[in-house]
Amino acid sequence: MADLTRNSTRNFSDKQVDLDVLKHIISEAQKAPSWENAQPYQVYLATGETAKRLRKSHEKLVSSGEKSWTEVVPPQEWDQKAQANINNWQASAGASPKNTEFGEMNDVLFNAPAILYITIKKDASSYVAYDAGAFGYGVILAAQKQGVGSIPAFGFARYPAEVHNEFDILDDQAIFMGIGLGYAADDSINDFKVERNELDQFLTIKD
Ligand SMILES: Cc1cc2nc3c(=O)[nH]c(=O)nc-3n(C[C@H](O)[C@H](O)[C@H](O)COP(=O)(O)O)c2cc1C
Repeated sequence: MADLTRNSTRNFSDKQVDLDVLKHIISEAQKAPSWENAQPYQVYLATGETAKRLRKSHEKLVSSGEKSWTEVVPPQEWDQKAQANINNWQASAGASPKNTEFGEMNDVLFNAPAILYITIKKDASSYVAYDAGAFGYGVILAAQKQGVGSIPAFGFARYPAEVHNEFDILDDQAIFMGIGLGYAADDSINDFKVERNELDQFLTIKD
């Protein structure tokens, strides 16, 4: 059973995750429910030298100031409550003793030794995003059960060309999200934890 102590890993050690462990994680995540079992996503997994090349190319693109973009509907204006949560997250990260490291680790894709990309059909509906998101959280929880750390991050998807350079992604697919997987490095940035809202801030119950 996955427990509730999980948090995102933002600095991975260079220890590779065994391929069988990664496959086990992915097949467990496949148990996620989806619209009439559509499983409307493809998954591309970069490990070893491929993940290394992706991290290097990403670092270069960031340092050259390359403009990033997404192949799916980009982040838009958030509703007030979500924006307040984001502001809180930013304040917590800013107040962390590791505050300068957040950006640095994003720029090197958290040193992730394995990167899993989820693609969905171009112009997919929100229901497809639901299914792909459920699969993504399945990956994260299954990884935790195996002692493997993870982070879902926009950073993995924001330079689509670097991913297309490595994989022949099906023509009808758009790069939706990336999840870094690996073992946490000994770095207190990996202890960064954020709380969730109280239930009454978003849950309405009527009996
Ligand atoms: C769609 C999505 C995009 C994210 N992008 C980033 C990112 O670019 N950089 C980052 O450091 N964390 C990113 N995260 C991780 C979130 O900040 C993190 O999941 C959230 O703050 C909750 O913390 P926890 O995962 O430690 O519980 C992202 C998470 C999701 C689901």
